[in-house]
Amino acid sequence: MRILVTGSTGQLGSAVVNLLKDSDCSVKITSRRRPKCGENFDWIYSDMLTGQGLEEAAKDIDVVIHAATSPMKKTKEIEVLGLSKFLSKLTHIKHFIYPSIVGIEDIPFKYYKYKYEAEEVLKQSFIPYTVVRATQFHSFVDSLFLSKPVFKGYFIPGNIKFQTVDVGDFANHLIKLTDKGPQGKTDEFAGPKIMTLREMADLKIRINNQPNRVYSFSFPGRLYKALLKGKNTNPIQNVGTVTFEDYLRKKMTER
Ligand SMILES: NC(=O)c1ccc[n+]([C@@H]2O[C@H](COP(=O)([O-])OP(=O)(O)OC[C@H]3O[C@@H](n4cnc5c(N)ncnc54)[C@H](OP(=O)(O)O)[C@@H]3O)[C@@H](O)[C@H]2O)c1
Repeated sequence: MRILVTGSTGQLGSAVVNLLKDSDCSVKITSRRRPKCGENFDWIYSDMLTGQGLEEAAKDIDVVIHAATSPMKKTKEIEVLGLSKFLSKLTHIKHFIYPSIVGIEDIPFKYYKYKYEAEEVLKQSFIPYTVVRATQFHSFVDSLFLSKPVFKGYFIPGNIKFQTVDVGDFANHLIKLTDKGPQGKTDEFAGPKIMTLREMADLKIRINNQPNRVYSFSFPGRLYKALLKGKNTNPIQNVGTVTFEDYLRKKMTER
């Protein structure tokens, strides 16, 4: 099987590439920056915004694991329009795997709106596909809400919930999907445990032995309500194995 991994410098892309080092598949990888993790593989420069390099990347490929994304800049152009252009160069492939995010239709957040539109683009294409939604990665919550204590405190919307998942667990799942073949929209992939953000912050403080405190606030609006209700979680699909605590402990030992 010949696999193309897009977004090979990203969190998910690099986790996939690292796991594929031990496989018998022929692997091609692509991104704009040259990744450190992929010395063994054929790397191609490509840009989902301009389309440069996509034709070359798509050549002689059976399966695509599409981990390229841009949540903050030119999101629609890359996630939706870029995907559409990319798919037009992939009419020969057997399977396109698109990682998406749990709860995107119920959480009013621009990036999620475009992820949903991208799922629709894929559904309406003639490309055999699998859409697999995951919950947020452990690092997402760690970096977004918990990384910078201000005046020895984390000021966070402590009551909102997350069910974060390990990026390596999810990468492994995507690789297994390459053997299964196209599934359409498949079961979601959620982390092992649902926690409030306050519980996650308290855990980080304990594990890192920090002198910080948590100050919790709420904010108005539909985004807060959706996260309060846990729309970004899926208690039934709690299939990830590495907990947020495992992630924090590992990060501590790597310092
Ligand atoms: N992060 C999460 O919590 C989470 C949870 C569930 C699902 N997901 C999904 O998993 C996928 C990967 O997310 P991630 O967190 O791994 O993303 P990431 O770390 O931000 O990586 C994004 C990748 O996309 C590439 N990229 C950005 N702009 C590009 C462009 N114009 N052309 C080509 N490549 C471009 C980047 O490489 P260069 O800059 O080198 O081009 C990078 O390799 C996304 O579909 C995301 O929605 C993420």
